[in-house]
Amino acid sequence: MNSIEKGSMKRGEFLRSLGLSTSTLMAFYCLGTTMTACGSKDDDPNPDPDPNPGTGGSGISGTTTGTAINFTVDLTNSNTSKLKNNGESIITGDVLVAKTTAGSYVALSKICTHEGNAVAYRSSSNDVFCQTHGSTFSIAGAVTNGPATTALKTYTVTVSSDGNTLTVKA
Ligand code: FES
Repeated sequence: MNSIEKGSMKRGEFLRSLGLSTSTLMAFYCLGTTMTACGSKDDDPNPDPDPNPGTGGSGISGTTTGTAINFTVDLTNSNTSKLKNNGESIITGDVLVAKTTAGSYVALSKICTHEGNAVAYRSSSNDVFCQTHGSTFSIAGAVTNGPATTALKTYTVTVSSDGNTLTVKA
């Protein structure tokens, strides 16, 4: 070994030159592989995705934008659980989901039919309001005050038997 510089040897040659057994050498190889894998993971610009993402951290799973709206809302998730209470609402993607003051679920397009700004549910009047120019809509989507003249699109909301999941579909 003394006559050979380590830098010019392959790893196996170097380890064998130390007089190590085959099984010991295999342990070094495995250790080397593991260390290499760990080192490369730290530098990986695209780390593996969560293998068990569940319903997602937001409590929303599915398509919330576009023309094929179809998603579920997990009401046990802290981000969406307020929808168990009357008079609460959330906006996800293009959709406003509310539990009315009377306790029924509604889902409407959040896109105002006047000039496309976002509407919001108002529990104080149990309706939908666009603050941009003051249009109001009923919880069924009908225009109750202009300048909007076209109703908001509505979606079907189905509640699971245990009350913990909403399914919203176009
Ligand atoms: S954009 Fe909503 S009222 Fe004008």
